[in-house]
Amino acid sequence: MAKTCNVALIGQGFMGRTHSNAYLKVAKFFKLPVQPVMHTVFGMKEEDPQAFADRWGWKHSCTDWKSVIHNEEIDYVDIVTPNYMHMPPAMEALAAGKPVGCEKPIAGTLADARAMVEAAKKAKAKTFVWYNYRRCAAVALAHQLVKEGKIGRIYHVRCIYLQEWGGPDTPLLWRFQKKLAGSGAHGDLNAHIVDMARFITGDEIVEISGAISETFIKERTIVAAPSAGGIAGGAKGAAKKGKADVDDAVLFLTRFKKGAVGSFEASRLATGYQNQNGIEVHGDKGALRFRFEDMNYLDYWDNTVERRLQGWKRIMCTSGGNHPYVGNWWPDAHILGYEHGFVNQAADIMRVLGGEKPEVPIPDFADAYETQRVLEAALLSAENRCAIKMSEVK
Ligand SMILES: NC(=O)c1ccc[n+]([C@@H]2O[C@H](COP(=O)([O-])OP(=O)(O)OC[C@H]3O[C@@H](n4cnc5c(N)ncnc54)[C@H](O)[C@@H]3O)[C@@H](O)[C@H]2O)c1
Repeated sequence: MAKTCNVALIGQGFMGRTHSNAYLKVAKFFKLPVQPVMHTVFGMKEEDPQAFADRWGWKHSCTDWKSVIHNEEIDYVDIVTPNYMHMPPAMEALAAGKPVGCEKPIAGTLADARAMVEAAKKAKAKTFVWYNYRRCAAVALAHQLVKEGKIGRIYHVRCIYLQEWGGPDTPLLWRFQKKLAGSGAHGDLNAHIVDMARFITGDEIVEISGAISETFIKERTIVAAPSAGGIAGGAKGAAKKGKADVDDAVLFLTRFKKGAVGSFEASRLATGYQNQNGIEVHGDKGALRFRFEDMNYLDYWDNTVERRLQGWKRIMCTSGGNHPYVGNWWPDAHILGYEHGFVNQAADIMRVLGGEKPEVPIPDFADAYETQRVLEAALLSAENRCAIKMSEVK
């Protein structure tokens, strides 16, 4: 019999659903050293956490996150609240010596992130950050191919994360308020592609320049209700407006330690792109190209074959035993989707809690802090209109 781990989930919005689904499914598809037990979900009173618990299979619900963290029966705390509410429950759980999972970005501010890293170090507790795109088979394969030397010396890293839901009709959700989110498209979307670039290249960004930040929509309708499980939510009929004080788009350029140059672009107003999360890597031996809206595919260019045979190869990453995670799912070519990345991450968290290795590296607080430093450097570059060396950002 595998050991069990009583999970407390703090939050029940969009990510509350993806994580609940992950804990619900993971032990059905993966052989795990530790199996999650869906013990308690926290939600705000107005969200009806008991209805959420009943629907998703949590044994208990609560409206007091501190008490659930300190409940002796809880073995692991998973945080899926808005960014400003990552640090308080994480610190509480770490002080109680419990391992912690947390949604990305690790925090709304670099100071919060630093406090979380220090607390984790002090508690000697295992921590995890849900940069879920690492766990798409195609992205994990890209990481493996670079590690095996198939791309060779990397020259270019080109990253985009483009969405379009942030138009003037979208209300003033927490995502548009600096005190709740920290930043806008930057912490929401650039966070993912900075993590993906670091993960795939195995390299670190050392300098940022040319950053531009823009808030196109400066006022939005004030909304009282939570976002009810989606991103944009709705507050039809409300008339009062408030200030949106985060970026709608941030673009920047980077230099990597091993000499590559990179570009990053995140926007919530890229009309025509709903969830275009993409990365391209060009090296002397080959190149890679990934687009999340076609997430089962990784494009690969082999620069070592004779010229007349060169061309982009479209690899469908759905072969069990050959492509990461896939063997746990369906027969070959029975396509996987968004939710599978979260289930794969839950599997790796349970493996690490059970003393095993994750299938591909999983970010802990210290790793996610490095991504947060890059985000901070880009904001400094945009604000001061100058290049920022990563060594200047502690
Ligand atoms: N990994 C991904 O791809 C991904 C995608 C979306 C969001 N996220 C991250 O997940 C986190 C949550 O985002 P979401 O989309 O689920 O948001 P959401 O608004 O849908 O849900 C947030 C939930 O947090 C709780 N909450 C809200 N305000 C709170 C408060 N003041 N105190 C305590 N709890 C509160 C509520 O239960 C709410 O339902 C954010 O950090 C976000 O950046 C990650």
